[in-house]
Amino acid sequence: MKTMIAQLLHDTLDHAIDQATIEQLLEKPKHDELGDIAFPCFILAKQLRQSPVHIAKDLAEKLQDVRIKEVVANGPYVNFFLQPLPIANTIIPAIVSEGAAYATAPKNGKKVVVDYSSPNIAKPFSMGHLRSTVIGQAISNIAEKMGYEAVRINHLGDWGTQFGKLIVAYRLWGNPEAIRQQPIQELLKIYVKFHEEAEKDATLDEQARQAFKALEDGDAQALGLWKEFREASLLEFNEIYELLGVHFNSTNGEAFYNDKMDRVVEELEAKKLLTSSEGAQVVDLGETLPPCLIKKKDGATLYATRDLAAAIYRLENYAPEKLFYVVGGEQTLHFKQWFQVLDKLGYDASKFAHIPFGMMLKDGKKMSTRKGKIVLLANVLNETMEAAKQTILEKNPTLKNSDVVAKQVGIGAVLFNDLKNDRLNDIEFSIEQMLTFEGETGPYVQYTNARIHTLLEKADFKAHTTPLQAIDDTLWPLIKVLETFEATIARAYTQADPSQIAKFSLQLSRTINKFYGQQKVLTQDDTQQDRLTVLYAASIILEQCLNLLGIEAPAHM
Ligand code: ARG
Repeated sequence: MKTMIAQLLHDTLDHAIDQATIEQLLEKPKHDELGDIAFPCFILAKQLRQSPVHIAKDLAEKLQDVRIKEVVANGPYVNFFLQPLPIANTIIPAIVSEGAAYATAPKNGKKVVVDYSSPNIAKPFSMGHLRSTVIGQAISNIAEKMGYEAVRINHLGDWGTQFGKLIVAYRLWGNPEAIRQQPIQELLKIYVKFHEEAEKDATLDEQARQAFKALEDGDAQALGLWKEFREASLLEFNEIYELLGVHFNSTNGEAFYNDKMDRVVEELEAKKLLTSSEGAQVVDLGETLPPCLIKKKDGATLYATRDLAAAIYRLENYAPEKLFYVVGGEQTLHFKQWFQVLDKLGYDASKFAHIPFGMMLKDGKKMSTRKGKIVLLANVLNETMEAAKQTILEKNPTLKNSDVVAKQVGIGAVLFNDLKNDRLNDIEFSIEQMLTFEGETGPYVQYTNARIHTLLEKADFKAHTTPLQAIDDTLWPLIKVLETFEATIARAYTQADPSQIAKFSLQLSRTINKFYGQQKVLTQDDTQQDRLTVLYAASIILEQCLNLLGIEAPAHM
């Protein structure tokens, strides 16, 4: 609609300002009675040497189109009242015939790399990793909707000096049977013990350094242990991924870049970017940033070195248009530093974006899976699904497949609770709140969709792509919301912000529920088919929104 109006204004104004600028200026009037879209004329005053009020009046007289019912000047604004039927007929039959493919951009042959989840081996899957996982998955889905191929990478934290410590700890106190049973809990236990003991016994740290050195040099025994830790941890992580319905194209973690770091160091040397500082090799980043550490005194590489190697590998291997790193805000400095090193090396750092996010809180405090007793994420998810089952059975005791639906609703609630907020906000993890069927929740959107399915079944609805007959005042708000879906996806992509989709789905749900309050749907006359068709289209879009967010849409609940 906005594009159509902008084009019309552009032509009428004789190209005095460009169409994109006009489109950006278009706004929604404060009240529906004032019109559907408004154009503020201030920007033209200087150029046309006329007052905005005069320009608005002039434009209102000139503008005409079959899709416009009325144009009125309101002070310095031109307000447009649109013709509902032609607009509805440009979108509803398309949604009905294209279904899930509606608003999907044709494949553009370009790739984007999305680095997300990326938990650390032998450590619990934290709430931060959960956020990264669900945000990264949604960004990948949205990119695909925009025509890109998304390369989904789980950059596992499977390398680093901590593995030296773990190997030493394992040799001293490891219990293979216990590790097989509960790998992460057990590995964490001996890791914590290592730190306690190292305070008393200074030789332990030295042993750990040597163990990691052996690992980096490819020592078979050290590698064997490392592999065991990695596989055992992945088994646990995969349980979570399965529950969440998450998948990756690559689980090449940090270790994968072990043999690709020499090249980074060589390139840095060739460009004379390395300086030594207290025996370590660093890249100086001037006044604004602390130096980026590349190699420790003992020659061991660091997190940043591996990220640089991975970046170069990804550029060469995938030739992506963009690379997103979905990692918590605490790592902002790390990304700033190595992005700048990459730039100094002559690579196109403008393709790289750190996508930070806020913390997960419980009762206002940071939810930590690290300190003290570890909260295992799988347990939290199971608890949520159990609670979802209770709620569903209260509402609908005869529901078939209630276990499947409970999973869809419980997991959907967790994902939606995360994704409905602006990424950078901290979010509260309250199972009770995220599961309510009223309010801004996943179950609310899922329920709105399921209710449409029930209505359609009751009416024995058959979808047609024939034009609609009439759009009255009660249906018009729904059409207007549906019309913004495509632009919402584009915005969510450019801002790497899935909350745009979640907020849109809430707005659509609220509009649908308001519509029920104003108009009986099943009237058994010839207006019924149009209403059902619009609702059917709305359910297709709700389903699409949920799926983009990685959430399933049960037809019954
Ligand atoms: N493993 C890291 C952590 O848990 C996150 C890795 C993020 N990705 C990256 N390419 N640095 O903190």
